[in-house]
Amino acid sequence: MKIAVLPGDGIGKEVVPVALDILKAVMPEAEYIPFDVGYERFLREGVAMAEKDLDQIKECNCILFGAVTSPPKKCYKSVILTLRTELDMYANVRPFKSSSISPFNVDFTIYRENCEDLYCGMEDVKEDVVLSTRKITRHASERIARAACRKPGIRKLTIVHKANVLRSCELFRNVCVEVAKEMNVPYEEMLVDTTAYNLVRDPARFDTIVTTNLFGDILSDEAAALIGGLGLSPSANIGDRYALFEPIHGSAPDIAGKGIANPMAAVLSAKMLLEWSGHSKEAEKIQKAVDMTIAEGIMTPDIGGSSTTDDVRRSLLRSLKKP
Ligand code: NAI
Ligand code: MG
Repeated sequence: MKIAVLPGDGIGKEVVPVALDILKAVMPEAEYIPFDVGYERFLREGVAMAEKDLDQIKECNCILFGAVTSPPKKCYKSVILTLRTELDMYANVRPFKSSSISPFNVDFTIYRENCEDLYCGMEDVKEDVVLSTRKITRHASERIARAACRKPGIRKLTIVHKANVLRSCELFRNVCVEVAKEMNVPYEEMLVDTTAYNLVRDPARFDTIVTTNLFGDILSDEAAALIGGLGLSPSANIGDRYALFEPIHGSAPDIAGKGIANPMAAVLSAKMLLEWSGHSKEAEKIQKAVDMTIAEGIMTPDIGGSSTTDDVRRSLLRSLKKP
C-alpha cells in the first residue's frame, strides 16, 4: 500500500510525524511518500501544491493529512478543498466517541457532504456585494445519504437541514428521506439550529447525522467539544477510489512551534486509515495505545495535562509494545 503523507502547515508538521511513527510501528511494510503542501510552501515557492504533486498523490492509495493555513487573501484554491474535489472524496466521516476524560458520554458519527454546497467556489465578488452560490445536487445528496445509511450498526439517521428557509435544503432533505426509506433505516429530520441546541442539551440522543458541507463543518467542531476537544477528533474523507485521513482541527497558529499540540486526533485519523484499508487488528492496537496513554495521564494541555507532543509520542510507542 502506498500512503501519501501531507503534514501541511503549523501543528500539522508536529502531529503528522507522530501519527506516521505510529503507523510505521504497526504497518512497516507500507510505502510512505512525503509531500510538502500548504501556505508555508506558497510563501517560499509561490505554489501551495503543484500539478505534479497532485498527479503523484493520485498514484497513492490514500493520504494522511495534517492541516493547512488559509492564506490571508484568497490567492489560490485551498489545498484541502482541491484534494477533496479532485479525488472526489465525497463523504466526510467524523466519529465522536467519548474517552475516559470526556465531559459527556456520546458515541455518534457525522456524515458531512464534502464536495459541494457553499464550498464549490462559485462566488461573484463586487466591491460592496458578494454572491456566494450554494450548489446542492440530487447526485451528491444521494451518495452521502447512502454512505451514512451504510454505517455499520446504524440505529437512527438524523437528517440535518434548513429546509424551512432554503430550497436547496429541501432537495437535500427529500433525497435523504428517500434513501433512508429505501435502505430501511429509521430516520428523523432536524433543523440545523435545533441540532446545534440538542448537541449541547442531549448529545447522547444522536447516532448518525447526515448533513450538508457547511453545516457539517460547524456542527463537527461543536461535537468535538463534547468529547474533550479538537485535539481528540479524527476524520476520514472517503470516495469510491481514494481516501484521506486528517484531524478535524486546523493548523492552530496560536500554539504552533511550542511542542504542545495534541497528536491524538492525527493518530486516531491514522487508526481510521487502517480500518478503511482492512487492517482492523492494527487499528485496535492504536486505540489501545491511545486509551492507555490517556489513562496514565500523559496528556497535552488542551485536554488538561502538562505533557508535550513528544511525551505523548513516546508513551504511544511504549504502549504499542505492551501485550
Ligand atoms: P484550529 O482548529 O487550528 O484551532 C482552534 C483552537 O483549537 C486553537 O485554539 C488551537 O490551539 C486549538 N487546537 C486545535 N487543534 C489542536 C491540537 N491538536 N492540540 C491542541 N490544541 C488544538 O482553528 P483556527 O485557529 O480557527 O484555524 C487556524 C488555521 O487553520 C486557519 O488558517 C484555518 O483556515 C485553517 N484550518 C484548516 C483546516 C484544514 O486544513 N483541514 C481545518 C480548519 C482550519
Ligand atoms: Mg472545520
